[in-house]
Amino acid sequence: MRFKQLMEESKERKQSNIVLALDAVPSTTNNLLSASLKILRKVHPYICAVKLNRQLLLPLGLQRGIRGIIEESHRLDLPVIMDCKINDIGYTNRVIAENYFDAGFDAVTANPFVGWEDGLKPVFEEAKRRNRGVILLVYMSHKASREGYGQIVYDEHGKKKPQYVIFAEKALSWGADGAVVGGTYPEKIREVYEILRDEVPIYSPGIGTQGGDIKTAISAGAEYVIIGRAITLSENPEAAAKKFRDASQTP
Ligand code: XMP
Repeated sequence: MRFKQLMEESKERKQSNIVLALDAVPSTTNNLLSASLKILRKVHPYICAVKLNRQLLLPLGLQRGIRGIIEESHRLDLPVIMDCKINDIGYTNRVIAENYFDAGFDAVTANPFVGWEDGLKPVFEEAKRRNRGVILLVYMSHKASREGYGQIVYDEHGKKKPQYVIFAEKALSWGADGAVVGGTYPEKIREVYEILRDEVPIYSPGIGTQGGDIKTAISAGAEYVIIGRAITLSENPEAAAKKFRDASQTP
């Protein structure tokens, strides 16, 4: 099953569009794995997928702790995304993707800045071969996003456009399984949604701690919302996840 469909089914089954960013919780550095699994087991009824990044990968290791989190997520019927923002030459990118897919990740994130030929093409090929997903960065959630993703540049045909519009067009033409647009910029979600429509779902991080509002992001066109600290650092992660899930469902 294609990753896009896997996510749709998970969303439907869990009645949730929340992707948990399971990042390192600072007070638990001595028992990162068990603390992360504990949060996952508490919030799993309210989420449709798990997203990891190097915050856990570096201390836990791909061959050891991370596999435990992937296996537990799969046991709970949750797809797992590696937010690795692949960004190198094609040969290296393929090896990076192979490693993550071998470890069991269902999708990876990648940076379209490196382009297609000898850039992200091998990653898409590897993902397609294994029925895994590639999610492209289109407009990031942090404050300085416009310095890169918001630049006005010339596209390959010499037409002036914002960088993120070109990236959204690439997400469509490359057949990406998702596009990341910061939930902190609902106007950008709206604009990108006009390009992607239902072809490429929008994933919006930046909800809660970074200031993004879940309802605003969804009504602007976000299909999935990525939430980390507002759940993981909450005194009651389960209640926080449930609150976001409920908010995502009410108009
Ligand atoms: P918080 O704690 O701010 O965590 O809810 C957000 C999570 O999402 C990641 N993140 C991004 N990933 N594009 C991405 O691919 C983005 O624009 C972006 N903004 C945040 C972040 O690493 C954390 O895991």
